[in-house]
Amino acid sequence: MKALIFDAIGSEADKFDVVALRDIPAVAPGRHEVVVKMLLAPVNWSDFLFIGGRYPEPRVPRLPGQIAGITGVGVVVEGGAATRIAPGTVVSFSHPGSWADFTSVPEAALIPVPTGLPLHIAAQIGNPLTAWDLLRMANLGPGGTIVLTAAYANVARCVAQLAARSGLHVIGTARRLSPEGRPAGYDAVLELSDEGLEAPGQADAVLDRVMTATGGRAPDVIVDCVGGPALGMLARALAPYGKIITYGTLTGRDLGLNNPLIMSKFLSLQAYGYRYFSTMPAADAHHHRQALAALTEQPFSLPPPADLHGLDDFRLAIDRHFDGARHGKQVFRIADHAEIEEAAAKLGLASAFG
Ligand SMILES: NC(=O)c1ccc[n+]([C@@H]2O[C@H](COP(=O)([O-])OP(=O)(O)OC[C@H]3O[C@@H](n4cnc5c(N)ncnc54)[C@H](OP(=O)(O)O)[C@@H]3O)[C@@H](O)[C@H]2O)c1
Repeated sequence: MKALIFDAIGSEADKFDVVALRDIPAVAPGRHEVVVKMLLAPVNWSDFLFIGGRYPEPRVPRLPGQIAGITGVGVVVEGGAATRIAPGTVVSFSHPGSWADFTSVPEAALIPVPTGLPLHIAAQIGNPLTAWDLLRMANLGPGGTIVLTAAYANVARCVAQLAARSGLHVIGTARRLSPEGRPAGYDAVLELSDEGLEAPGQADAVLDRVMTATGGRAPDVIVDCVGGPALGMLARALAPYGKIITYGTLTGRDLGLNNPLIMSKFLSLQAYGYRYFSTMPAADAHHHRQALAALTEQPFSLPPPADLHGLDDFRLAIDRHFDGARHGKQVFRIADHAEIEEAAAKLGLASAFG
């Protein structure tokens, strides 16, 4: 079988050139594991945090010979002695080893894909589940106002749709506006980046744009994955007792928050990490059922993959990922077209991407 493997920790400066395509012996399931035949696996920011050795246990690469990719969707082909899931079940998971023809995954980490959930969303199941958690952390009732940075990021798109369903006002910010227009859920998307923020009057200008977009309502919560001075500017618009939830570090910069501002408005800061990185879904069954029900009871949309790559095309997939939304989500199509459509049909979908 083929797999994308790394033997050493990688870095963006070296374009993660530690990753290589190799032929390796077939994987076999441990007692509590199943072997999954992979269908689709996305290229996400978190994949590079993993390859870059930036996660704590249990998300630490086992070197040498670690298979890359930490999320995906596939079909169960074989179970270990102590497993119960039926072969043929379509499953998603967040567990190292998804950039491969086959991978072994603890049964407790599997999420059987609900009927009707398009396969490209199932392949990145951590993103909508993160969105569900983030909205619960925001803890806002109808009429509240939420601001989402990196508005076109899939996590932010998911939060926007869930928030709009809950009757919230939703404003997005992005470092550049996309020609696609305003994604589902948003009342407005504003252009906001760190560039030019030092110029005189810029802070007030940002504040004015936010307040115009919200119709004069000071936002209650900012959900941020960008950091940097732009976040500091946005925080000025928050209502007293407002909250900032940080869940990503796309700029790699400090949060840009100003102490007197935090003190004078009694702002709070919370960090979020995807709950199923360390706790298996099976150990958290009630929460998990609730979240999946919320994600599937009404139609839920994310753009289909921008590009589908074979594993051997990994260098282009990685380069395009780092080129950003200009290219959109890069996804490995690991099984052939017929196998993917067969899995989609099992989920009641007319086609794999909904
Ligand atoms: N804490 C958690 O548990 C958790 C879970 C899931 C995801 N995340 C994090 O959430 C973030 C989004 O992930 P995703 O999969 O939703 O992303 P995605 O769909 O791949 O989209 C990334 C978006 O971020 C924008 N972007 C990239 N670099 C940026 C920068 N330096 N400044 C501002 N915007 C930038 C891109 O837009 P342009 O390139 O067009 O500007 C693009 O729209 C990542 O940081 C990821 O690690 C965290």
